[in-house]
Amino acid sequence: MLCYMLREFFMKVIICENYGEMSRKAAQVFIDQLKEKPDSVLGFATGSTPVGMYQELIKAYNRGGVDFQETTSFNLDEYYPIASENNQSYYYFMHEQLFNHIDIQIENVHIPDGETRDVEKFCLEYEEAIRQAGGIDLQVLGIGRNGHIAFNEPGSSFDSRTRVVDLDQDTIEANSRFFKNISEVPRQAITMGLATIMECKKIVILANGKSKAEAVAKAVEGEATEEVPASTLQRHGDVMFVLEKEAASKLKSIG
Ligand code: F6R
Repeated sequence: MLCYMLREFFMKVIICENYGEMSRKAAQVFIDQLKEKPDSVLGFATGSTPVGMYQELIKAYNRGGVDFQETTSFNLDEYYPIASENNQSYYYFMHEQLFNHIDIQIENVHIPDGETRDVEKFCLEYEEAIRQAGGIDLQVLGIGRNGHIAFNEPGSSFDSRTRVVDLDQDTIEANSRFFKNISEVPRQAITMGLATIMECKKIVILANGKSKAEAVAKAVEGEATEEVPASTLQRHGDVMFVLEKEAASKLKSIG
């Protein structure tokens, strides 16, 4: 595999030659987790970054190398408000990219409800559902250009939990590539909080491309500050950064 370990303490950092290798490495982490614990609680993310990993998981499933029969899943976030049938909803994305192609039981899938009327109650219930499931065993994350994880934008409290948030202008611009025009991008989202994410037992965070290099360097080597939400991961005991080499290019330790 064309990936190498840059460091192996606190946060593991693995640097991969290209997006395909990053995706295969990340998929292997999920496959290993499911071999060890077939009824794992998995945490999924949306966005461009994990698409290759989902494709690898589907290939492995088709080969008989993994199955999702006993798994439960929780997604990090969803636009708010948005109808689940909207092709830009994360509900739609997850079904298209993964759930329609594997044997996960749809009743075990949880995605924040972009149509809920009582969003505060919903957020409390989402946290409770995660607790009831026994916590998330393995969570995949992407990272925003501004250092966000899920939709915890810069300035989010390290103690934050699932809630409604306003999206940063930078995030609205970055995500407008999926919409007809920028005015269609929802301005709010429901997101797991940073404290919610920190309770996941194991975390794998992926980044691809030069536009993520600054955020990755700050998250891995900068100070842990709420201005860089991903830097909270420095205080977690089991985090693995799996980086395509351009996304790793601003790390001082490889210089
Ligand atoms: C999506 C999510 C976001 C993305 C981030 C990177 O569920 O939580 O934090 O991971 O915005 O997005 P991409 O992968 O599209 O660059």
